[in-house]
Amino acid sequence: MESPSYKNLIKAEDAQKKAGKQLLSSKWYPGFHVTPLTGWMNDPNGLIFFKGEYHLFYQYYPFAPVWGPMHWGHAKSRDLVHWETLPVALAPGDSFDRDGCFSGCAVDDNGVLTLIYTGHIVLSNDSPDAIREVQCMATSTDGIHFQKEGIVLENPPMPQVTHFRDPRVWKENNHWFMVVGYRTDDEKHQGIGHVALYKSGNLKDWVFVKTLLGDNSQFPPGKRAFMWECPDFFSLGNRSVLMFSPQGLKASGYKNRNLFQNGYILGKWQAPQFTPETAFHELDYGHDFYAAQRFETKDGRQILIAWFDMWENQKPSQRDGWAGCMTLPRKLDLIDDKIVMTPVKEMEVLRQSEKIESVVTLSDAEHPFTMDSPLQEIELIFDLEKSNAYQAGLALRCNDKGQETLLYIDRSQNRIILDRNRSGQNVKGIRSCPLPNTSKVRLHIFLDRSSIEIFVGDDQTQGLYSISSRIFPDKDSLKGRLFAIEGYAVFDSFKRWALQDANLATFSNDAC
Ligand code: FRU
Repeated sequence: MESPSYKNLIKAEDAQKKAGKQLLSSKWYPGFHVTPLTGWMNDPNGLIFFKGEYHLFYQYYPFAPVWGPMHWGHAKSRDLVHWETLPVALAPGDSFDRDGCFSGCAVDDNGVLTLIYTGHIVLSNDSPDAIREVQCMATSTDGIHFQKEGIVLENPPMPQVTHFRDPRVWKENNHWFMVVGYRTDDEKHQGIGHVALYKSGNLKDWVFVKTLLGDNSQFPPGKRAFMWECPDFFSLGNRSVLMFSPQGLKASGYKNRNLFQNGYILGKWQAPQFTPETAFHELDYGHDFYAAQRFETKDGRQILIAWFDMWENQKPSQRDGWAGCMTLPRKLDLIDDKIVMTPVKEMEVLRQSEKIESVVTLSDAEHPFTMDSPLQEIELIFDLEKSNAYQAGLALRCNDKGQETLLYIDRSQNRIILDRNRSGQNVKGIRSCPLPNTSKVRLHIFLDRSSIEIFVGDDQTQGLYSISSRIFPDKDSLKGRLFAIEGYAVFDSFKRWALQDANLATFSNDAC
């Protein structure tokens, strides 16, 4: 019998088909970041390598560029660079996911692609807490069409909990484990975020084991998070990583200045005990990075993709009919108690024309250049030892009317600054990361039509910090300049590549 959500799935599919490729030529539509063909996208979901292909699902509302009853959009790739949009995987509307198929994960259960996600039900519009959230399952053998299996985990750790979402499942020693985010409330009705741990022998019957970690023990009073969203738990190097998106952390110094955070705590895992050994570290230092998910490639790399946008920010592309995209896939490594992230090497296939300038020395001066495409990869090596400029760096996506996105080293603050106050439409603000203590700083930059992603390295290590922010410049803002202010700057090498538009290249109407 047809389930009530089947009609919703057909409608969503029609909306996606109707949109076709029309948005791909709009001025801010990304060329090499996964982006919805129409409507709204938030969290990455269900990242998995399955039967020879990478699958990426995502929180999706195909009917308008705003958050609405959540569907699961679906794309797949063979190389992590070219992603083909597939039919919508899940639509809400059944008794257990009536108002949304919220975030979740995918596992390969003996050749069956199995999605575990949160069914979201609104009980009343009077309070954001009047909701019911349960964990549900859907399965597929062809990796494209999914059969809903209903609720697999109904009860939160305590009966009064209503925010209970974003399951992440893994297999260890023949047992399935699941982490799920949940919220309790103190006597003043202030939320406290936690992660619960469950265990199962068959993916269908789950037993609550314990609260893996909770906010009370992690963040100082007055600074804590009211909810921990999208937890992930995995090992990296010789450590275990609890990654999550805490909501409501208060800024402190340079830390936690984003609208919402995404980060991790390292520790030791001896099932079922996680012993935290570090404080919470943010993963990214930009404006737009949330709800990251991680998966393993066929060659054993741990790769992470995050939602390249943010709750409660400005989204100028909404006027063009779409909102949200994914970050580049990043390889994770553990170095000295810190996760470092580098763009996957597969991205190099997009490189086209190469421009190399060796040693640019500027003394209180500028070095202009023009980009022949808004899709650019840049590698800049800055010699900190030989430079003494107060500020030195790059202006990108500039025009003659004063539009510019600035990325520079500030010696007085010892930080690397991204300033998007004059970047274009709506979005503003400054973000920064520490200046590595090194003789040479490496800046590896990816510019797409509405984003900048910067990976910062030192003499030895790439990707010590990343800064990921959306920008909305004019189409013809294609000028750039290197600059040095108050002093001289030595850039050891300056390489640029125009990048191919992978989204345009992969789009296939037949697939959706
Ligand atoms: C995180 C989140 C999740 C939820 C989903 C709903 O961005 O709030 O907790 O499952 O988005 O779209």
